[in-house]
Amino acid sequence: MDLKHWKLDVDGNHLAWLTFDRAGSTTNTFSREALKELGQVADHLVSMPPKGLAILSAKDNGFAAGADIDEFTTLKDADEAIAFTVLGNEVFDKIAALPFPTVAMIHGFCMGGGTELGLACRYRVVDDGPKTRIGLPEVMLGIVPGWGGAKRMPKLIGAAAALDLMLTGRSVDGRRAKKLGLVDALTPRRHFENAARQILANPPPRHHPGLAAAMTNWPGIRALVARMSEKKVAERVRRDHYPAPYAIIELWRDFGGDVRNVPREHPASTASLFFHPTTKNLIRIFKLQERLKSFGKTSPGEGIRHLHVIGAGAMGGDIAGWSALRGVTVTLQDLAPERIAPAIKRGAELFEKRLKQPHLVQAARDRLIPDVKGDGVPKADLIIEAIVENAEVKRKLFAQTEPRMKEGAILASNTSSIPLQELSSVLQRPERLVGLHFFNPVAQMMLVEVVEGPQTFARQIDKLPLPCKSAPGFLVNRVLSPYLNEAMLMLDEGIPAETLDAAAVDFGMPMGPIELSDMVGLDIGWAVGQELAKPGTPIPKKLQALVEAKHFGKKTGQGFYTWVKGKPRKSTGSGTVDLKPLADRMVLPLLNEAVACMRERIVADADLVDAGVIFGTGFAPHRGGPIQTIRARGKQEWLRIMAELKAKHGLRFEPDSGWDAI
Ligand code: NAI
Repeated sequence: MDLKHWKLDVDGNHLAWLTFDRAGSTTNTFSREALKELGQVADHLVSMPPKGLAILSAKDNGFAAGADIDEFTTLKDADEAIAFTVLGNEVFDKIAALPFPTVAMIHGFCMGGGTELGLACRYRVVDDGPKTRIGLPEVMLGIVPGWGGAKRMPKLIGAAAALDLMLTGRSVDGRRAKKLGLVDALTPRRHFENAARQILANPPPRHHPGLAAAMTNWPGIRALVARMSEKKVAERVRRDHYPAPYAIIELWRDFGGDVRNVPREHPASTASLFFHPTTKNLIRIFKLQERLKSFGKTSPGEGIRHLHVIGAGAMGGDIAGWSALRGVTVTLQDLAPERIAPAIKRGAELFEKRLKQPHLVQAARDRLIPDVKGDGVPKADLIIEAIVENAEVKRKLFAQTEPRMKEGAILASNTSSIPLQELSSVLQRPERLVGLHFFNPVAQMMLVEVVEGPQTFARQIDKLPLPCKSAPGFLVNRVLSPYLNEAMLMLDEGIPAETLDAAAVDFGMPMGPIELSDMVGLDIGWAVGQELAKPGTPIPKKLQALVEAKHFGKKTGQGFYTWVKGKPRKSTGSGTVDLKPLADRMVLPLLNEAVACMRERIVADADLVDAGVIFGTGFAPHRGGPIQTIRARGKQEWLRIMAELKAKHGLRFEPDSGWDAI
């Protein structure tokens, strides 16, 4: 057998060891060729059966990351897409049917097709280390776990738990996987071989779910579980925006979890999903995310060991906590201990939530050090400033801090809107100042805009670096600001906040602009708006009145909405208003500004404009970002709407000259 991607050894005990080692790649993914070879190996083993088979990976980073996305996106038509899913099913069915015990030895990433191969084996041995992640994330790409995952996982662990994993796409570590019954043995990787040998030599009974979990697969109860899942999905996403989660439920409920049983015309079929615009956009976003990650690749041993953060407020406090969570030693400075204490408390809560195990939580707490006097400054490799948004105060701080910094250390500002040139003039070495712009809430927002700075640090703490030019508002605030402003002007015209928010959500935004403004803080919105407003754009009156009355939104309990227990109180029923024109009017200033950013090359290209706006604002992912939104509906159509709006509302709807290049 001539194998390019697999290596098969049979040892003296007649155990077969099959190693996945995708040629020409540092990650194992399933191309058609890799799948076909696996099928050949299975045929071969049937003809010369060993006592048992263990499947493992030769790659450091994990077992297998799923289907080869690059190859997947070159599939031309529905027939090719169907053939690819059928091939995966046939091969994994062969593995499942092998007449001797089989075990998957899983470490690191085990995603999608990797998990489905694991599920096709009789047993799974898993590395108990922190890097293990097992999941079926297909839903995030707009597709379904179509190589047997939707069939085998519900049988193994019960439908409720399996649907939860498949519908959210989230992955679990080894401990959680063991608790769920997804894996049979949990062990450090150095004991892998032993664990696999034991299982193959003395196969234990195969895992079956408990009665309550098994019942979820019974016909009557299945319909009930499906209905409940559908309800939960509907609370999050609409079917016309995101068809995949609905398709997963139907695939499991009506077709035994096997895509080969779904008629071609059915909305849950491979053909329907594969060519849905949402799927195309989600796959593109996935690739863009990989591109952002590649900006921050670090080599081992490289990286920031000691971070010093100045300003322990909403942003600085959370940047410090997040960095400590990700393994960096952090000293946190503010004017007084009582200003630092809340940030340390929030950090402790974050560690508890994310790390769970007490010794890991304790280690993270030890890494987050309050430092009123700024003793960390001379030791730090990187200093991030996150004090009040006031150029004069920031300059004063920089002038005091620079002489105390160690040679080679980097000084960064988290400023939202002040150009770095305005801040660096006081430095002896102005080139030392870079921009590291995080988003609020730090723990949830993936993006960091990086101006001439250490993109590697962003990756080190598991964020997505976006290289930006230093210009007011960088990319994200610059495009967001006119959108929020337009929504507030519409509010001044008497359109209810609830209606505006509903229109934005209907368009696909995760949250409406009025609610978002209240969340971010109207004082901040006001300051950023002032900094970024184009000449001639009217000032929203209600916003001004609220800011003057010190009603800053969620944090003060009162803004455009009244906030009770962290939630805005909204009156229901936006009536029968046509939401689409409202959304168009709010979104157009954002699209226009995105075009301007592209023309000014605030980021390198149109793809990065889309990536930044999606990861920095949550902009409707199924639409693929602002530039993609323009292309999808057509530039002429948007320009026509813009001309109408300009006639009514004036020059703020003047198309940027960059539209010519779209
Ligand atoms: P904040 O008002 O919550 O915190 C600022 C902290 O800095 C306060 O605790 C204050 O005591 C401290 N501080 C002021 N002067 C100081 C000094 N000389 N030395 C040490 N500490 C000092 O402000 P927030 O919201 O955290 O913003 C901080 C920076 O981050 C600003 O530049 C802002 O533009 C930027 N930013 C804010 C975002 C947001 O949504 N809040 C998002 C992204 C950036």
